[in-house]
Amino acid sequence: MRLILENIKELVQVDPKHRLWVAGKSMSQVQTIKNAFLVVQDELIEDFGPMENIGSADYEGEDLMMEIDCSGKMVFPSYCDSHTHLVFAATRELEFVDRIKGLTYEEIARNGGGILNSAKLLQEMPEDDLFHQAMIRLEEIALMGTGAVEIKSGYGLTTESELKMLRVIRRMKQNSPLMIKSTFLAHAFPLEYCKKHDDYLDLLINEMIPQIAEDELADFVDVFCDRGFFSMEEAERILMAGIKYGTRGKIHANELANSGGVQVGVKNNALSADHLEFVDEAEIAALLGSETMPTVLPGAAFFLNLKLAPVRKMIDAGLPVALASDFNPGTSPSGNMNFIQSLGCLKYGMTPEETIHATTINSAYAMGISKNYGSIAKGKVANLFITKEISSYAVIPYSFGSNLIDTVILGGEIQ
Ligand code: NIG
Ligand code: FE
Repeated sequence: MRLILENIKELVQVDPKHRLWVAGKSMSQVQTIKNAFLVVQDELIEDFGPMENIGSADYEGEDLMMEIDCSGKMVFPSYCDSHTHLVFAATRELEFVDRIKGLTYEEIARNGGGILNSAKLLQEMPEDDLFHQAMIRLEEIALMGTGAVEIKSGYGLTTESELKMLRVIRRMKQNSPLMIKSTFLAHAFPLEYCKKHDDYLDLLINEMIPQIAEDELADFVDVFCDRGFFSMEEAERILMAGIKYGTRGKIHANELANSGGVQVGVKNNALSADHLEFVDEAEIAALLGSETMPTVLPGAAFFLNLKLAPVRKMIDAGLPVALASDFNPGTSPSGNMNFIQSLGCLKYGMTPEETIHATTINSAYAMGISKNYGSIAKGKVANLFITKEISSYAVIPYSFGSNLIDTVILGGEIQ
């Protein structure tokens, strides 16, 4: 099947160089083609270029061919959302109200709310129900332009429930047109282990991770290394347990304090270090030259009123930056990557171009898929969206809260 997009007002995030990520000053330039065409063959991008060259690609008369006129509309590679927790049992708006009344996120967590609250509800919920609810969230984010998503476990906390979550994610992979990566997350100490950290580490390292590896349920292993959660030493033991089974690490780091998580992540060659509100010169120096993608989660900082990650400093120092939604019931109950771009521009001083790289190619790198996703290049998977008629690509982050997406194409198929 061939799909031909014609008269595209502007084809955005074209990258003939097939870069795996974009860093520093280069983030401020996005390559585009005005008045363009793009050809999809089966699930891949076969060809693209200026409309005047479409004549040389002569597909007239083919049986299985479909043309879409994109006059006035722009075409983008789908967003890659490299950090979500979108398998969960229930929303947590009561905690949201508690926070409005003055309690902090950490106080709520200490009182058995937060992650432990989500864990209790998830442990009780049947696997089928979890799957169906999560599929609805997946469809919702697909319509907002996301074509690839990483989903974490971490609301199970027991071996049985963590496996249940990861099986749900595996079933989602089999039933969704989105590209999905699954991550086992060591998220918090259950109450009964709060004074017995070593016993829980033992369970994580000697029971959960080996079993998850045996069932091939996780692409990555992640740990919440922060004040009140896992220490540097504990986080390192968990990442190393994953590496032992050939599973690369990711890390939740420096959200609540200067936790040392960035350094632990870099030392263990984590694919990404995420959150990064508490980042200073030492963390920037550790990240420079590493293979760890600094990933900022503006939705969580916005929702919790956190201090903001120093994104400008990071990019100006030559680092790449990815942005992801952190879609989860406690700290970022939205997977809208258009809004994440808006926050990137409005709160972090990023240009629209920088947010485009941060939500496509750099976030694709942060989930290990930037060879095949995250930009418009020949041979990459045709995960794309066509916008409504818009005046320029900056109008997407400008129109915060709006959905300017008209048509979603995943794996070459119109959704
Ligand atoms: O990424 N920071 C750690 N974990 C999640 C929040 C989890 C929750 O509160 O349910 C996050 O923000
Ligand atoms: Fe998270």
